[in-house]
Amino acid sequence: KTAEFPVLQATDGKSAIDVSTFTKQTGFTALDYGFVNTASTMSDITYIDGDQGILRYRGYPIEQLVKGNASFLEIAWLLIYGELPTADQLGEFDDKIRHHTLLHEDLKNFFTAMPAGAHPMAVLSSAVAALSTYYENDSDPDNPEHVDLTNIRLLAKLPVIAAYAHKKSIGQAFLYPDNKLSYVENFLRLNFGNMAEPYEIDPVMAKALERLLILHEDHEQNASTSTVRLVGSTGADQFASIAAGIQALAGPLHGGANEAVLNMLAQIRDSGQGVKRFVEKVKNKEDGVKLMGFGHRVYKNYDPRAKLVKESADEVLAALGVHDPLLDLAKELEEIALEDDYFKERRLYPNVDFYTGVIYKAMGFPTRVFTVLFAIGRLPGWLAHWREQNLDPRNKIGRPQQLYTGSPAREYRG
Ligand code: MLT
Repeated sequence: KTAEFPVLQATDGKSAIDVSTFTKQTGFTALDYGFVNTASTMSDITYIDGDQGILRYRGYPIEQLVKGNASFLEIAWLLIYGELPTADQLGEFDDKIRHHTLLHEDLKNFFTAMPAGAHPMAVLSSAVAALSTYYENDSDPDNPEHVDLTNIRLLAKLPVIAAYAHKKSIGQAFLYPDNKLSYVENFLRLNFGNMAEPYEIDPVMAKALERLLILHEDHEQNASTSTVRLVGSTGADQFASIAAGIQALAGPLHGGANEAVLNMLAQIRDSGQGVKRFVEKVKNKEDGVKLMGFGHRVYKNYDPRAKLVKESADEVLAALGVHDPLLDLAKELEEIALEDDYFKERRLYPNVDFYTGVIYKAMGFPTRVFTVLFAIGRLPGWLAHWREQNLDPRNKIGRPQQLYTGSPAREYRG
């Protein structure tokens, strides 16, 4: 049983206790009691109750933040600094981000050097790692001012890099950012605008994209966020840590799932066999068929983000005048699966990736860019975790505790 819980090592190095027993017994966080966070698993940032389907950023329920029209940058501040910003703080934060959007001109050669068909996630991660080479003199991870500046640089430049990775993949020219536009509007223009004519922002699309980015802002210590914390705990700066996080996110079992869901829906459509037959195949594990976008390591209930994404899917497609048969297929698939004992017993529900792809597709993003959008959304959470991990002097270099399960000592006889 112990292995399922993060193990806290007392500072005397001798006694150990698991987090859940400790907090149940004392009501205090482990750090209050001077325990060393050896597995980097404690955090004040995001709360999830997987059984009830609850998600809160710094105590605020995700539904309230989304429906109360909080902006992406407002929540970024909340995640990073722990409180909602005042109007002045938010204004200054937004302003700084707008003024750091330009990429060094030399970095453009980097995109040209990649093969035409390069996956945008690989381009994104490599370009973020490359960014550090331009800012070596003011990205010291031990200097809180540098840490704030690097956060600003990453928040400002990641969407630009992402849009260039997209433009590169479709062979179109890169646009310069337009700093009069908001964060999300700028990003839309960089992706869908061109050199020849002014780009008209569609407010429905901007609002829907902002909501999707907010829903992805943090999700506690999953594979990519743990990666960011672990790399950060070595003393690596945010550029290196976020580049590593992007690589972890790219896998199909993590952020890559939104891309995999759309490919799955397209396969169901092209097979002409219908959703029921597909569900049977999943249950019988036929032809290696998998139900993507369903189930979650933490949620044993409906992922609260998926509910909000589903609402948006209907609204956005209607407002954009798009009818996508893949959305009908997704709904049918959900309905059949949620009625089926196989899925009920296993407590498999749609997760955040299930409906996002349909919306991104309606907006005009190619499938291979979907996970890049996840990365832009997740950046504030990664930065918040990096900061929490690194600015607390009690935290040490991460080293998940290993339970040795191999052979006992034996003799080598030459
Ligand atoms: C996420 O939002 O990162 C995914 O739901 C994966 C996870 O949290 O385990």
